[in-house]
Amino acid sequence: MAHFGDLQNAIYRDGAAGRRPRFPLTPDDLERAARGVMSDAAWAYVAGGAGTERTMRANTEAFERRRLVPRMLREVVGRDLTTELFGRRIAAPLLTAPIGALGLVHPEPELAVAAVTARLGVGAVITTMAQAPLEHVAAAAPEGLRWYQLYWPADDEVAESMVRRAEAAGYGAIVVTLDTWTLGWRPRDLARGSSPFLAAIGLANHLTDPVFRSKLAAPPEISHQAMRAAVDAALGIFGRPSLTWQDLSLLRQWTSLPVVVKGVCHPDDARAAVDAGMDGIIVSNHGGRQVDGARAALDCLADVADAVGERTTLLFDSGIRCAADVVVALALGARAVLLGRPWVHGLALGGADGIDHVLRHLLAELDLTLALCGHSTPATLDRTTLGP
Ligand code: FNR
Repeated sequence: MAHFGDLQNAIYRDGAAGRRPRFPLTPDDLERAARGVMSDAAWAYVAGGAGTERTMRANTEAFERRRLVPRMLREVVGRDLTTELFGRRIAAPLLTAPIGALGLVHPEPELAVAAVTARLGVGAVITTMAQAPLEHVAAAAPEGLRWYQLYWPADDEVAESMVRRAEAAGYGAIVVTLDTWTLGWRPRDLARGSSPFLAAIGLANHLTDPVFRSKLAAPPEISHQAMRAAVDAALGIFGRPSLTWQDLSLLRQWTSLPVVVKGVCHPDDARAAVDAGMDGIIVSNHGGRQVDGARAALDCLADVADAVGERTTLLFDSGIRCAADVVVALALGARAVLLGRPWVHGLALGGADGIDHVLRHLLAELDLTLALCGHSTPATLDRTTLGP
């Protein structure tokens, strides 16, 4: 039986033949190498967080405080990392997080991540703020598990149109990001005065949306001024601050897909999401990019799991850097995790090959970590896997 961990032997065999892995192996080395190939503007945007960035640091420090307790002699020969999410089984409890404006880093970020995740059998959450229209992303890897991440605009007709497009294009769920109805205060971008969106980066879904376009005075393609007006219109409707839990019921009229809310940290918000009929919750603080001083996302996970873990599908992101982090999050109650910045580092270093490198190595390490901790499947992880 083939396991993700078999990659380790393949790497040693390659090494014996004089071939080394093309990109760095540890998260820190990968990040440093990515820094070396990214523009200053792209680096500021991807690496930056809100305010003093203490929440961004807290997210990874929270993992530093958790330790696994390995268990022995538990017959871990035939491992199975597959995980079911809303009736669909993926190869491991892993999805890539939605990351917007990556046109700063690569010409085809979503096409690359959709193709690689489909090949590996894991999931991809595709951002609203994409470089390619969501239909092109679907066509790049029709068989893959893709979810569409919605930034709910201040125009419900445009929101509805995007949701309907995603369902028509075969996306498996709608992920509504709740924590970013406006951007957090991000000094690295502010110091440069640089916003990717003003340069029309990440607006492909808007510029191809029939409802959005029907509201423009002129098609964006016809002139520089028309494009400027379209960009202003897209940014003008970014985020709907008036959105309430009740409004989420609109999604039920627009789509039959499962709906997942992203950005929940408080147990009461988690209960509100379940009461509003949401199918899943992503515990996340947006990688520390929204509320400086917010609690580490991992510290929120156990509280949210205690509040609603039995009643919903819980997912987690913010600070996942290595396999041990994945195991910790699963042990605390997440069904699956989203990998954020590290896949972007891979993208910067080697496009699709770079993402493939990051994900395959993470999956190999996850397989070995689970097995060495005495687990054949993520399903048996629980809090007893963690030290006191
Ligand atoms: C994000 N994130 C994000 N989330 C979302 O719902 N839609 C988006 O378009 C974006 N865009 C985005 C851009 C960049 C550069 C980053 C770093 C993050 C948040 C993302 O989905 C995820 O929550 C975080 O990346 C998790 O934090 P770490 O693990 O990357 O630190």
